[in-house]
Amino acid sequence: MEIVRTVQALRAQSEDARATGRRVALVPTMGALHDGHLALVALARQRAELVIVSIFVNPTQFGPSEDLASYPRTLDADLARCRAAGVDVVFAPAAAALYPDGAQTFVEVAELAKPLCGGSRPHFFRGVATVVAKLLVAVHPHLAVFGEKDFQQLQVVRRLVRDLLLDVEIVGAPIVREPDGLAMSSRNVHLDPAMRREALALVRALDAAEAAVVAGEREAAVLLETVRKEIGRAPHATIDYADLRDPETLAERATLDGPALLALAVRFPAPRAASGEVRLIDNRVLRCQHDAEDHPR
Ligand code: PAJ
Repeated sequence: MEIVRTVQALRAQSEDARATGRRVALVPTMGALHDGHLALVALARQRAELVIVSIFVNPTQFGPSEDLASYPRTLDADLARCRAAGVDVVFAPAAAALYPDGAQTFVEVAELAKPLCGGSRPHFFRGVATVVAKLLVAVHPHLAVFGEKDFQQLQVVRRLVRDLLLDVEIVGAPIVREPDGLAMSSRNVHLDPAMRREALALVRALDAAEAAVVAGEREAAVLLETVRKEIGRAPHATIDYADLRDPETLAERATLDGPALLALAVRFPAPRAASGEVRLIDNRVLRCQHDAEDHPR
């Protein structure tokens, strides 16, 4: 496995693979790798001969009061996991390699970045879109893999690829969960055992909404009430948002006529995190019976 630090060395790896007819896949990450990230690597491995993982805690997607400084950094363990997963190249640049001195060019996906996570984190998708665009331009992969755990991010990336006419296939990968159902996240390490238990409220809320749909419920207001009630059972949980939205446009949906994205963000106190709290996200695409037959999960 090669570890490269510069865009020049990265580009050389990718160009060499392309020149010899090998397919190139990119898996962008911020490190602190867990099995969710490794599932993206496995998908990339199936689809390409050269698998590149980027590990970069991107400063432009963190707000001034967010957890940039305390974001977990575990490079040695990450490299070992990449090696074991059969990654060919890890790109682990310093910030200056991706943001040259005086950098002032940003990518903004105007509408898709506004709702959901864009509400409480207005800078966030501008930072994500900018760094992902830089990585895609630098690597020029055939495909890049992103997790459905960050569903809005996946849609923002799909949109930017279309809008900037980039020649890359964006592949979405299903959410990987802990055995008890909690969606894997690098931020879970900040939860103490009591909050770790309370955090299961997110997946319980998704399950409850799904059960309500199976029982025939179609009204967003009723489904979201079910979700809020379920999260309310966790005494320390604060809902940031609980929304039902169109999976592509992210426009709000009043009823479930066709697949709809149920997206949640919930905060928990976390003295171990610098900000004193952890914000967890989770989501599920809800489908009525007739959608399920058209689009099996
Ligand atoms: P990070 O949070 O490290 O996530 C990297 C990728 O792993 C993302 O595509 C994310 O959706 C995916 N992922 C994380 N947890 C997952 C899980 N439990 N199941 C499935 N996929 C999961 O997302 C970012 O980094 C950054 O915003 C980035 C895209 C790298 C830009 O800086």
